[in-house]
Amino acid sequence: MAQKVVTLITGAEKGLGLLAAKALSKEGQAIIIGALDEAAAKQAVTEITADGGEASYVNLDVTNHDQVKKASQYVADKYRYLTILINNAGIVTDGPHSPVDIPMDALRKEFDVNFFGSVDVTQTMVPLLKKAENAQIINLSSNMGSLGLATDPSFPFYNFYSMGYGASKAAVNFETICFSKALKDDGIPVNSVNPGFSDTAFGGRNTNDPKPAGMQSAEEGAAQIIKMASHNPQTDNATFSENAGQLPW
Ligand SMILES: NC(=O)c1ccc[n+]([C@@H]2O[C@H](COP(=O)([O-])OP(=O)(O)OC[C@H]3O[C@@H](n4cnc5c(N)ncnc54)[C@H](OP(=O)(O)O)[C@@H]3O)[C@@H](O)[C@H]2O)c1
Repeated sequence: MAQKVVTLITGAEKGLGLLAAKALSKEGQAIIIGALDEAAAKQAVTEITADGGEASYVNLDVTNHDQVKKASQYVADKYRYLTILINNAGIVTDGPHSPVDIPMDALRKEFDVNFFGSVDVTQTMVPLLKKAENAQIINLSSNMGSLGLATDPSFPFYNFYSMGYGASKAAVNFETICFSKALKDDGIPVNSVNPGFSDTAFGGRNTNDPKPAGMQSAEEGAAQIIKMASHNPQTDNATFSENAGQLPW
């Protein structure tokens, strides 16, 4: 009998992570929500289990190494292994500042959560991923982190800087490339996904506000995450994809 797929999604108590958690639980995956907001996580678990899914949450601020260690212990005690790690937690704090006057603390916060947090969670979960059948890692990146698009004048966000966010997501892509090589012999694929500009509360946006031009639904934003996490075993490795296909690094 195939091993149950156990999936940890960081920052999954809302937004794209929650949509992915709900969809993947419907496929029979046991979901663990790595949560910053405990009340929202409890609500998410209630909704998933009421729908017949298996879900739990663990307190997980990805910038807090003690919590990262405790989260891995939680997964080890509950399931012994981890099949899919989705590094979804992310922030944007630098808005459309010019690089000339971007606040340094905003840059540091973005790297702390988007890159260092993701790397710490990945390093800590690797021993559990190695114990699973068909393990894989999915890193939430962004088209704003694509160097190829940032230098392409036809890219719709060519003149939109957000240097800290973009650089932290470019770092996430490099993380994907490095871990994909390091874990290749263990049969653990690592891929980056760009959800695209999506209707969530990301960056403190009020979801009741009218959608800006070019913004897609949250469901469209979650689709590629769900697609990648549904591939068991995952045959792609070291890719950077979105709904429309592959993106330039
Ligand atoms: N929405 C977009 O347009 C878009 C586009 C490209 C890429 N992305 C990426 O997609 C991912 C999900 O974004 P989303 O749109 O679903 O945004 P969201 O609704 O704001 O979800 C992000 C989640 O990450 C959590 N989080 C923030 N800091 C954390 C930390 N230190 N530890 C653990 N969790 C933390 C947030 O918790 P709190 O809300 O409680 O802080 C929230 O639950 C992010 O990585 C983002 O960069 C989004």
